[in-house]
Amino acid sequence: MAIIGNNIEKAVQLLREGELVAIPTETVYGLAANALNEKAVLKVFATKERPAFDPLIIHVHDLDEVQKYAEAIPEKLMVLAKKFWPGPLTLLLPKKNTIPDIVTSGLPQVAVRIPDHPITQALLKEINLPLAAPSANPFGYISPTDPTHVDQQLGDKIRYILDGGPCKVGLESTIAGMEGDEVIIHRLGGISIENIEREIGKVKLNINLSGNPKTPGQLKSHYAPRKPLYVGNVGDLSKIHANKKTSLILFGNTDIEINSVKTYQLSASSNTYEAALHLFKILHDADADSSEVVLAPVLPETGLGPAINDRLKRASVQ
Ligand code: TXA
Ligand code: MG
Repeated sequence: MAIIGNNIEKAVQLLREGELVAIPTETVYGLAANALNEKAVLKVFATKERPAFDPLIIHVHDLDEVQKYAEAIPEKLMVLAKKFWPGPLTLLLPKKNTIPDIVTSGLPQVAVRIPDHPITQALLKEINLPLAAPSANPFGYISPTDPTHVDQQLGDKIRYILDGGPCKVGLESTIAGMEGDEVIIHRLGGISIENIEREIGKVKLNINLSGNPKTPGQLKSHYAPRKPLYVGNVGDLSKIHANKKTSLILFGNTDIEINSVKTYQLSASSNTYEAALHLFKILHDADADSSEVVLAPVLPETGLGPAINDRLKRASVQ
């Protein structure tokens, strides 16, 4: 097991030595390495068992730092940066040579984010290095929103988890980039499309579901510890799975009576932001309870609903 603590100095020291440290952010916990140290970055891929073609996000503490590692920020993305940073937004920007190619899997752009968490802000200021940090889960498994999730999943592979308590957003960052003059959203996340479009007008979605395992083989390698999750109308699904022990994930009140070993509520008041906050913890808990299958609803397409639906779809049996 890793040590879970709040010693920023210790985290700085380990990261400077090329070790990995799990860090808190407002979205999910990250598995951080010094982004300028190729060997340390390699350890991130190895520890997560993540394919080398899947690039990492770098985390810095302010806009001046961003400019050390990326070329000029296009105007529309700058509007978003000023509005939503620090926060759950990642920008794809033309990369400077200061960032090793391994971080971006050889791509010409680097993904950058200024996280909104006091402990990680303090860490970034102190260490004065960009930290490459994917979510601190084995590749393909549920993202961690609590230090204990990290410890359960990667505790035997890393030495230190910086404790920042439960994450305040609970869903990964929204990823935005440019194609010509157009802003493209590459991942739905903690900033809703409505809030982005309020600042800069219409954006285009390019959400790639290719990370979703489609074959049983992939399911086995990436989702082995997880029981099957089905997404749809939970009333209908519970009839289909009537002969199995099920746990139910709900969103708001439901008037139907469904047999289940356990029920989890994403948000009793049907608030998608509250649902995002609870989503990954509920998936972790449902994975560990005594049910055989987990049934989850489709959320409304407003606020963080689309981002939650995206995560549920990826985690589900299709
Ligand atoms: O909220 C978050 O973004 C969390 C916290 C820790 O910051 N991080 C996170 O990282 O979710 P990760 O590695 O689980 O997801 C990052 C995704 C990659 O899978 C990839 O799709 C995209 O960001 N990405 C990173 N760098 C990219 C690049 N240079 N070009 C295109 N996509 C990139
Ligand atoms: Mg991830």
